[in-house]
Amino acid sequence: MTTILIVDDEKSMRDFLKILLVKDGYEVIVAGDGEQALAALGKNRIDLVVSDIRMPGISGLELLAKIKDESEDIPVIMITAFASPNDAVQAMKNGAYDYISKPFNVDEIKSVIHSATNQTEATLKIQQAEELFPEIIGKGKEMLKIFDMINRIAPTPANVLIYGESGTGKELVAQAIHKKSKVHARPFVPITCSAIPEELMESELFGHIKGSFTGAISDKNGLFKEADGGTAFLDEIGELTPIIQTKLLRVLQEREIKPVGGTKQFTIDVRIIAATNRILEEEMRAGRFREDLFYRLAVVPIRVPSLRERKSDIPLLVEHFLEKYSTLLGKEIREISSYALEVLMGYDFPGNVRELENIIERGVALESTNIILPENLSLGGPLQTRREDSAESSAFVAAHDEEELFERGLETVVADLEKSLISHALHKAGNSKTRAAELLKVSFRSLRYKAKKYDL
Ligand SMILES: Nc1ncnc2c1ncn2[C@@H]1O[C@H](COP(=O)(O)OP(=O)(O)OP(=O)(O)O)[C@@H](O)[C@H]1O
Ligand SMILES: [Mg+2]
Repeated sequence: MTTILIVDDEKSMRDFLKILLVKDGYEVIVAGDGEQALAALGKNRIDLVVSDIRMPGISGLELLAKIKDESEDIPVIMITAFASPNDAVQAMKNGAYDYISKPFNVDEIKSVIHSATNQTEATLKIQQAEELFPEIIGKGKEMLKIFDMINRIAPTPANVLIYGESGTGKELVAQAIHKKSKVHARPFVPITCSAIPEELMESELFGHIKGSFTGAISDKNGLFKEADGGTAFLDEIGELTPIIQTKLLRVLQEREIKPVGGTKQFTIDVRIIAATNRILEEEMRAGRFREDLFYRLAVVPIRVPSLRERKSDIPLLVEHFLEKYSTLLGKEIREISSYALEVLMGYDFPGNVRELENIIERGVALESTNIILPENLSLGGPLQTRREDSAESSAFVAAHDEEELFERGLETVVADLEKSLISHALHKAGNSKTRAAELLKVSFRSLRYKAKKYDL
């Protein structure tokens, strides 16, 4: 994570730059003048400074000189006013990385900042990554980027949002951040937001006082107190209801919690790592996720790539899981046939690493030779199906005579169902095709076409 310090006496300019850069994944700290900037530099690890030149108090050029005195290698980009080319020249002479003149365009400033930060960016080497993160398998550049990111942000107290498809290893990344943090000896407490009913959520997060509601038979600490001094892992954060989102936001802002039924506030000191497999930007656009909460949580966003995007890691992962399940199941299978591996390399893995792990586990269990053969790979097999899905699918079958369904065949069954549903909707809608189409959530044209086809 790259942290940028923005120094400008004009608030609108600070806000504008901040929004722009946060959107691009940078962490941003702002300062209203040179004094504040120096204070911020003393307190934080800053990778880049963007500073106005004309400011009351310490001028931008003086600030530049002080930064260059203290820490030679922090690049500084100066913002110069429209008609003062001398400022720009002076800035470059004094060691500025570059300058941009007001009014500047967005692309220009982005590209200058991008090249300045790339110069300081160092990527972790494979061997180093293996030593630092033995439990996370992956050597491709996608994972190396993530390791590098974990390494850099773990020691900071910044909140982290990990996002990516299901089964990509988000929880592993969260654990790794905690392990590499300064608070690694303190608790890492996970909570799965989707698994807790809304009425219990507040108490799960903030605790409760004995007797505050039916069932509160003793005091409860709640997540934040359990994790005090350490890391709270809020998994599936996208599932939080609006009410809880608001309460959580308040806690993040004030760093204080009040247990349900309690009167006293407690100060908390917890690093928050949140994870989601939803696209929170979309959730925000749809009004389902609070934007202010998002920015509090996603100070550092980390995207974990899908397995499809890093297929070169498949052989390593296979080897890792073969080892794991051979040992676990007391077998001696340490190899996969080259054709079986080819099959895996060509597969899409909608369930990502978790699915690959399941496939190998099953393969090891089923295999009677000492090498995994393609016939024992069940791709997209029953393990991939979520339990709810299969329950839903058999409900329809259970309500009918299974043999008769197979006898009639898929097309006839679907057509009959379609016909009877449309007929029902038409009846309900008093024969209005427009209304029936609304009921069935199809277009008017499509309904008219189908009604004609089935002679309704
Ligand atoms: N890079 C990896 N190396 C080794 N094992 C991995 C890796 N990524 C994921 N796994 C394994 O895959 C399984 C799923 O990982 P994890 O629970 O971290 O995924 P997730 O992204 O949190 O998924 P979900 O969104 O469904 O909660 C776990 O058993 C984990 O150990
Ligand atoms: Mg998870």
